[in-house]
Amino acid sequence: MKPVRKAVFPVGGLGTRFLPATKALPKEMLPVVDKPLIEYAVEEARAAGIEEFIFVTGRGKSAIEDHFDNHYELEQTLGERGKEDQLALLNASKLEPGQVAYVRQMSPLGLGHAVWCARNLINDEPFAVLLADDLIKADKPTLVEMVEAYEEHGGNVVSLMEVPDDHTSRYGIVDPGAMNGPFVEINGLVEKPDPADAPSNLAIVGRYILQPSIMHHLGKGKTGAGNEIQLTDSMLEMIGEAPFTGLRLSGTRFDCGTKSGFLEASVAYGLARDDLGPDLRERLLAVLETSH
Ligand code: UTP
Repeated sequence: MKPVRKAVFPVGGLGTRFLPATKALPKEMLPVVDKPLIEYAVEEARAAGIEEFIFVTGRGKSAIEDHFDNHYELEQTLGERGKEDQLALLNASKLEPGQVAYVRQMSPLGLGHAVWCARNLINDEPFAVLLADDLIKADKPTLVEMVEAYEEHGGNVVSLMEVPDDHTSRYGIVDPGAMNGPFVEINGLVEKPDPADAPSNLAIVGRYILQPSIMHHLGKGKTGAGNEIQLTDSMLEMIGEAPFTGLRLSGTRFDCGTKSGFLEASVAYGLARDDLGPDLRERLLAVLETSH
């Protein structure tokens, strides 16, 4: 079984739900406390042993490239001022030369299309996909757990969470087979079904380990829900080719693609910080008391 060494970060979406903030700023660069969403995803991938980081970008996303690069003037100024802590933060966020590649999606035709744009960099290796706007707060990083599940089961692995019945039309929903602890055998998948048609309330969260054969299915360019090229539709075509396993999330997932999910994440991550938490708690209580 080949190890998972590569990760794809689709960051080519328009982020329309965050306009006007995302007119000139990539959604993935929105900070939760003091770190952009994309950096949380990269940290998770690093923890899982990923060696090659492939960003599928689009117009107006160059801030992401700059974020993981050197910034000589800033580094020099911080060095001259003896700001070692801040320099260490900057250095921690960099990726090594040759470890990172950027591919332009050119037109945001959907998540499946974004993943397909990375096909020549994936070649014939299994790979991870991480959606930065699904931020997961967990003791053990989710992709680490998924790589362990992949090493046990092989094939394809997706992370799952239960959603309220009336929310199924927002997610890819699985048709579950045998369940064994956190593992769910996947018999089918439907993108954004109406609650009446949903085979379960187990939704796919933005973490995937996929076999490279998905590129063949994505290459057909078939559009699905929302008239977009959906990743879920090609994953469905892979069922039966190789094991397909769902892993229930052990952490808390924040949907940072929505305003309320983003604000919730900011509060949760802020409260969890030793340097901010106690003060933030008091301020939030005061805000709650005075707001209607
Ligand atoms: P979303 O469904 O959140 O779409 O994409 P979006 O365009 O980013 O945001 P809204 O809906 O307009 O507010 C989920 C993930 O897939 C990426 C996005 O960047 C995000 O990380 N994506 C989506 C692409 O890379 N390309 C696409 O064509 C669509």
